Amino acid sequence: MSFDVETVRKDFPILSREVHGVPLVYLDSANSAQKPQVVIDAEADLYANHYANTARAVHTLGSEVTTAYEAARDKVAGFLNAPSRDEVIFTRNITEALNLLAYSFGNATWFPGAEKFRIGPGDEIVVTEMEHHSNLVPWQLLAQRTGATFRWIPIDDEGRLVDSAIDEVITERTRLVSFVYQSNALGTINPVQRIVARANAVGAYTIVDAAQAAPHLPLDVQALGADFVAFTGHKLYGPSGVGVLWGRYELLADLPPFLGGGEMIETVAMEGSTFAAPPSRFEAGTPMIAQAVALGTAVDYVTNLGITNIREHEKALTGYALEGLRGIPGVRIVGPRDNVDRGATISFTLAGVHPHDVAQLLDERGIAVRAGHHCARPVCVRYGVPATTRASFGVYTTLDEVDQLVQGVESVRRTFG
Ligand code: ALA
Repeated sequence: MSFDVETVRKDFPILSREVHGVPLVYLDSANSAQKPQVVIDAEADLYANHYANTARAVHTLGSEVTTAYEAARDKVAGFLNAPSRDEVIFTRNITEALNLLAYSFGNATWFPGAEKFRIGPGDEIVVTEMEHHSNLVPWQLLAQRTGATFRWIPIDDEGRLVDSAIDEVITERTRLVSFVYQSNALGTINPVQRIVARANAVGAYTIVDAAQAAPHLPLDVQALGADFVAFTGHKLYGPSGVGVLWGRYELLADLPPFLGGGEMIETVAMEGSTFAAPPSRFEAGTPMIAQAVALGTAVDYVTNLGITNIREHEKALTGYALEGLRGIPGVRIVGPRDNVDRGATISFTLAGVHPHDVAQLLDERGIAVRAGHHCARPVCVRYGVPATTRASFGVYTTLDEVDQLVQGVESVRRTFG
């Protein structure tokens, strides 16, 4: 299918609204993407016409809703090129997916068959210096609970992983490596297969945070080769409140549960319980039914646009924006300055102006960007900045909007002298 941004924009009702009396220019998709009408309709349709609880009711609505929920699992499995639909676990978001893993690894001390996941003193847990807090704090907590050592691969001045450090930090002591595919703070696209190959060579498990990659890059779990991959729905033009953890079935089959409750059990007695097979083992309680169903619709929407078309569109926007921003005196790009192995997320600072003030003044022109440490505070510490302003693009972003961003930043510079 050919990609026409003006046609795509018509799918997103919010893009026709105004902010401060001017048309909205939404450049905060890395934070959360806007929703096409089909996704909004899918969620509303489920509530209006089919709603009941899933997997628990024998009546017609119960059956319809269970079919819709499981169909969404099929769609996600297809989107990920997963070998099995039973490898797809719905979570509340990617933060929960990563915490699920960290807690389940921590529970490996008692679960039958889970010896291979045990982590303790002398073992090492590896992340990178560019992680979002959600892929950093759960592993710090796991290290504290188990006595393992927490280590990280550093980043260089350009915002890329120090390549030689991949081999130095991942060693025979490493038990797991959890790392981001595309950085939310820098835009950097990391060499997933290179890191996975190194981890495999030392027998470490690999976990990929694909929150920022899923809307922009092909996410073929078999090609990536990692053991676990997680993403979230709301950045993929889907609803908030639903995320996905994918894992190799043979690993999930031996992984201890995370939350206990209904539907995750095989049998329950007062003396103790046994647990369901994946994915149910990891989906305790009533799930995010309508959100999961609408995520299935979002997956269809992105698939129909074509992830390769999306990547080309966003690459052109990114190159154009980098060129425009680099031309403004006082602008410093925090992250890769060139348009190679980087995504459509650009962090920058403007000399003499606080990033929040830049964002505030852009908002007055209708331009929505994010300012702050983007839940990746160590990145700001690494580059000696309190925060950055960040513009991030999506399927609906136009070159004209990039022009408005560049003109807006130039105007902020002039305002502050
Ligand atoms: N919502 C977070 C961001 O803006 C992850 O990058």
